[in-house]
Amino acid sequence: MTNKLPNKNLVARSFGRAAAHYDDVAVLQRQTGDELLDRLSLVTLQPKRVLDLGVGTGRNLSLLGQHYPKAELVAVDIAPAMLKHARNSFNQTQGLKRWLPNSQKPMYLAGDAENLPLADNSVDLVFANLALQWCDPRMSFAEIQRVLRPDGLLMFTTLGPDTLHELRQAWASVDDYPHVNMFYDMHDVGEAMMESGLAEPVLDTDRYTLTYETAMALMKDLKVLGARNVNTGRRKGLTGKQALKQVADAYESFRYDGILPATYEVVYGHAWGGQIKQDDGEVRIPVSQIQRRKS
Ligand SMILES: C[S@@+](CC[C@H](N)C(=O)[O-])C[C@H]1O[C@@H](n2cnc3c(N)ncnc32)[C@H](O)[C@@H]1O
Repeated sequence: MTNKLPNKNLVARSFGRAAAHYDDVAVLQRQTGDELLDRLSLVTLQPKRVLDLGVGTGRNLSLLGQHYPKAELVAVDIAPAMLKHARNSFNQTQGLKRWLPNSQKPMYLAGDAENLPLADNSVDLVFANLALQWCDPRMSFAEIQRVLRPDGLLMFTTLGPDTLHELRQAWASVDDYPHVNMFYDMHDVGEAMMESGLAEPVLDTDRYTLTYETAMALMKDLKVLGARNVNTGRRKGLTGKQALKQVADAYESFRYDGILPATYEVVYGHAWGGQIKQDDGEVRIPVSQIQRRKS
């Protein structure tokens, strides 16, 4: 698995700046979030604590709260501005209900999915919609496995390598710098899940095509989303108007029926908490897991 790790400060800054207008353009994120929630409703689970990892502006946090009204909600994001937005949005959704004594009061924690600010075996459900593509899969899955209770569930989406392949190709005809983030493929993701000790990992992919009138409109949306190019080998400094015009011209080769497509390869995955790692290094498989495998 080659290292495609982005610069963390850049990710945090970029999403922080995006917080105010992210919801205006987060079409794909809403769609995959809804699909994840639908899949979740097929699982019988009564989580005491639910973690929305990479919570962003908090839309899914409110929906998770409605889905599990008795659960304690925890929101983690690397960008403090996103957390602030998530808090405001959660309070707004709750309206006056939030003043009731038993209303849900989520915990908002600034933190990195690769180093979660949570105790071992402390979460029953980790929900991560389009956030893990910004992380090293080995480190983030190891952390998720650490905080999940053995019978806890991880439900996530991430992006696969075919994502934005049109834009990547268009840039490749302009210069040799990486302009579009690199993403891990499903096999790398699966391998990292297995290595982390998560149990019964299941993965599948789906393709979505967003359409644009111009390549500039796509690049603008990516900027508003905070989905900046964070490749380590990226070109530093501003991209010139001439280069942007060249990439827009090159993108035209993908035009059909008057529109420009932007492909997203979305990887859907889930797994159970699995093993309990003891301080002495011994690994114990909970009885419930053994029973689940037998049935
Ligand atoms: C594309 S947004 C998705 C937000 C939200 N889950 C949704 O469905 O709209 C990705 C989010 O992940 C956060 N993020 C990126 N890298 C992270 C990391 N290493 N740890 C925690 N959050 C991270 C970003 O700040 C951003 O809020």
